Amino acid sequence: ASTLGAAAQQSGRYFGTAIASGKLGDSAYTTIANREFDMVTAENEMKIDATEPNRGQFNFTNGDRVFNWARQNGKRVRGHTLAWHSQQPGWMQSLSGSTLRQAMIDHINGVMAHYRGNIYAWDVVNEAFADGGGGGRRSSNLQSTGNDWIEVAFRTARTADPAAKLCYNDYNIDNWTAAKTQGVYNMVRDFKQRGVPIDCVGLQAHFNSGSPYNSNFRTTISSFAALGVDVQITELDIQGASAQTYAAVTNDCLAVPRCNGITVWGVRDQDSWRSGDTPLLFSGNNKKPAYDSVLAAL
Ligand code: XIL
Repeated sequence: ASTLGAAAQQSGRYFGTAIASGKLGDSAYTTIANREFDMVTAENEMKIDATEPNRGQFNFTNGDRVFNWARQNGKRVRGHTLAWHSQQPGWMQSLSGSTLRQAMIDHINGVMAHYRGNIYAWDVVNEAFADGGGGGRRSSNLQSTGNDWIEVAFRTARTADPAAKLCYNDYNIDNWTAAKTQGVYNMVRDFKQRGVPIDCVGLQAHFNSGSPYNSNFRTTISSFAALGVDVQITELDIQGASAQTYAAVTNDCLAVPRCNGITVWGVRDQDSWRSGDTPLLFSGNNKKPAYDSVLAAL
């Protein structure tokens, strides 16, 4: 195969990218994105601040731009993200307690209803665990509504769109020995044991000098998969874009049957949220060495 998406399909997987609605008028961008990728995540347009700028008033203008571009070009869509401490609209930031809990439920229902039946997988909850050695939850307004907020979000999501796979998504849960990884692992195990609906774990996989790729990444993927969930690499970027590290990440996913897709967090280096890191697979119109190593590994 000569593109990332077609190569991933050879083993029943997908290869996706984050898409920014503001770049859909850039034909150099859309040419690469349309040619190479078969899964799309909206980089910002389906987040809480974008989709519910005022309480109870939903806005899908930019989310639909990304969604429609993907569907018109035959691609599936990952939904990102329904419940998160970050990129909350001001009204939500100022809520707490049972009012915030209800607002979270209403938000999940409102967004999932709009895209019902049309999303491959939703990142239902994003980044709910704390960094550092404790392995516990991140403190946030959502966490302050009660420790059960994550399972409430997942139960709400299952009812709102039974066709969507429901994922928990986080960063720095790539290194198997990290306390944060173990904290998420224990939550997913508990959810599976108690029948809380969860179908997948998203490993963001933002690798840089502070949180480098570790060869135990494959153990992380296989350990989550063994709990009975799919694993997806959801926001891959690697500072410096080492071809060797990109190949290792790809091989780690391919080694685990339930690792069923990889998404890079942007198309070209100039599109990256960490543009100074040159962490992606394209530079301008050009395929970087990392591109070739990923294609060869798929
Ligand atoms: C980032 C976007 O790429 C930026 O454009 C935005 O300013 C901030 O959010 N983890 C996530 C993504 O789950 O939603 C974040 O995306 C990157 C980190």
